[in-house]
Amino acid sequence: MLKKKFPANFLWGAASSSFQIEGTQEGDGRGPSIWDDFCKQPGKIIDGSDGSKACDHLNLWPRDVELLSELGAKAYRFSIAWPRIFPAGKGQVNEKGFDFYARLIDGLLERNIAPWITLYHWDLPSALERKGGWRNRDTAYVFADYAAAVVERFKDRVDHWITHNEPWCVAVLGHRTGEHAPGLKEPLAALQTAHHVLLSHGLTMPRIRSLAPKATAGITLNLNPAYPARPDHEEDRQATEHFDGDFNRWYLDPIFRASYPQDMMDAYKAEGVIDTAGWDFIREGDLKTIAQPIDFLGVNYYSRAVLGDRGADEIKAQKDPLRYTAMGWEVYPEGLKDLMLRLNREYPAKAYYITENGAAYTDHVDGDGQIRDKHRVRYFALHAEQMAAICAAGVPLRGYFAWSIMDNFEWAHGYGKRFGLVYVDYATQVRTPKASFRYLQKVISANQVIDEL
Ligand code: FCB
Repeated sequence: MLKKKFPANFLWGAASSSFQIEGTQEGDGRGPSIWDDFCKQPGKIIDGSDGSKACDHLNLWPRDVELLSELGAKAYRFSIAWPRIFPAGKGQVNEKGFDFYARLIDGLLERNIAPWITLYHWDLPSALERKGGWRNRDTAYVFADYAAAVVERFKDRVDHWITHNEPWCVAVLGHRTGEHAPGLKEPLAALQTAHHVLLSHGLTMPRIRSLAPKATAGITLNLNPAYPARPDHEEDRQATEHFDGDFNRWYLDPIFRASYPQDMMDAYKAEGVIDTAGWDFIREGDLKTIAQPIDFLGVNYYSRAVLGDRGADEIKAQKDPLRYTAMGWEVYPEGLKDLMLRLNREYPAKAYYITENGAAYTDHVDGDGQIRDKHRVRYFALHAEQMAAICAAGVPLRGYFAWSIMDNFEWAHGYGKRFGLVYVDYATQVRTPKASFRYLQKVISANQVIDEL
């Protein structure tokens, strides 16, 4: 029997990110980011769209804060657009950018919603990309300065900081598969990027500590528990180990153990990813810098990975919304429990927060204007049930942020994939809470899992 009640101080919230919701506006002073540039390249974004309008959160944020309040959110995780603060990455500050976030933060605090700020959610200033972006070690130091400037400005009002969102995506999707900005397909660049992003996290942590000694700070990783399709096949087991190394351990080990996993270092070398310069980009002392004590680990969980041939039935199941979301991601709530128990065993942290979890489904607006997104409701219910069990098992899971407060620009998928608790009509910018919003609202107010509506 799963225990269904959450601990008394469990923190409920919702999340978003700057590029996905803000939009830009003539005169706002924001500099271009790699995502603005990437969107301009033909064929990169499925629907040919970009982030110029998005949810117009830049203007409509008061309404969005109202929605968070109506949801009962105690915390809101959002990101700061680096080029809104430093249009060219460093140097000249854009005060209008600071003003915008100051208004947002004050609006949240007025409603007793704690701001949880992510300092990097992928919108690197274009000016820095021209100097080699995250492949360039200097970017790590420039990031730490940008982060310190933001913390300095808001430390009187903000107590929770997340240095990075999902370094795996920045490294691999951005530099190995090319699906995300800046769109490179260079495996070595992906490893350099991963290292410099982690290094920048390590450089930033002590800056936050000295500027805001009472604040809590950490990093968010996207983690995917991996399973062999056929556990009795050596091949599948090996593929699983490799996936886990590449996706999870490559980020967890440096942060928690001050080392990169040796099996993966050997594998990358054997695969020819590492050239004659070897591991030169990892300098002495870097791993010690990266492994700064963190107050919490943020975990983004959506699905699991299964390695090896799963058979024809599974391929058919991909059309079944009970089994797969519109992203083609398997609905596998048990994976969250497997993952959190493993983290607590192998990578013990003072606290864990689920900083993202949610599902894309094709939404229909009914004749009465309502969005009855029953599959998303079910997704949240199943994951909430696992979370209650995780807490009951003694894992210090302290909170949960649903992805996302509203539909938004889903990167290379454009506006076609909706993850929101709130439906956004992009033509009118009207926001309508979906059934999943009402569901989460009940869970939050009861602080327990509620049977699906
Ligand atoms: C995560 C991202 C977030 C959103 C969700 C669906 O990888 O952090 O911005 O796109 O996936």
